Amino acid sequence: MTATIETAARSAGADANAGTGTGTSTGTGTGAPTAPAAAAGPAAVRVSGVSKSFRGSATPVLDGIDLDVAPGEFVCLLGASGCGKSTLLNLVAGLDAPSAGTVEVPSGRPALMFQEAALFPWLTAGENIGLALRLRGLSGRRERKAEAERLLDLVRLRGSYDKRPHQLSGGMRQRVALARALAQDSPVLLMDEPFAALDAITRDVLHEELIRLWEATGLAVVFVTHNVREAVRLGQRVVLLSSRPGRVAQEWRVDIPQPRRIEDKAVAELSVEITEHLRQEISRHGR
Ligand SMILES: Nc1ncnc2c1ncn2[C@@H]1O[C@H](COP(=O)(O)OP(=O)(O)OP(=O)(O)O)[C@@H](O)[C@H]1O
Ligand SMILES: [Mg+2]
Repeated sequence: MTATIETAARSAGADANAGTGTGTSTGTGTGAPTAPAAAAGPAAVRVSGVSKSFRGSATPVLDGIDLDVAPGEFVCLLGASGCGKSTLLNLVAGLDAPSAGTVEVPSGRPALMFQEAALFPWLTAGENIGLALRLRGLSGRRERKAEAERLLDLVRLRGSYDKRPHQLSGGMRQRVALARALAQDSPVLLMDEPFAALDAITRDVLHEELIRLWEATGLAVVFVTHNVREAVRLGQRVVLLSSRPGRVAQEWRVDIPQPRRIEDKAVAELSVEITEHLRQEISRHGR
């Protein structure tokens, strides 16, 4: 998918990486303001000079965002509530169009996962996934069932094909939603606070599962959160957005080896540093 709307004055090619590496503050030993990973090859997602204004609002929500995500990269988008994280994700998903700039996802429409599992309650877990497979063009019923079973297995829900959403816990529903997203077979997965409604232990388990799947599949993941620890626990790169308007304020490359745990000292230390920057961004905008 390539969404090309009126391009901002800047040249997309020259400026594609301009929003990265803007950080000048010191990094820790494990995380540092970063150079873009996408420089090595074609990006899985390329956001160039993107601004977004909604009708009736004087200030743009997003202003001049440049962000490249490399194939197979795990990027966490962090920012205060209302800074435009979901807006940016929706633009990448092709659900909305930028007011200026370009969004390119060369592989086609990305897979999406939200805070709510949004499963059809009258369909079983397997059928919910089967629907995504049908949209993908898998026409044979038996083939779809086998693939849905395989995906349920992948998210550790073997034996849940015939369960309806109300028979599953919140964490299990999110696993089904993840399997459904994987059913799209897109190399890009966009996640908007997918674990925010879960309890800490379930979230912890799903963090582990997500990293395992990411390592196994080589997906590029853009993960939105306002939880700094979660961002550092998961991401290879953490991108902090400012508010009013949303801009890339700073980035950190997270070199802490996986598997990480949310309570790891290195995760905690980098989280403290990033939280301080987040606080500054919030206070700068009087929130
Ligand atoms: N369709 C829309 N029409 C008008 N304003 C919108 C629309 N969508 C989002 N906004 C505004 O854009 C701003 C950013 O919203 P967005 O949902 O992207 O924030 P967010 O960073 O995802 O916040 P949160 O962390 O609370 O989910 C908000 O002020 C919101 O009111
Ligand atoms: Mg949001």
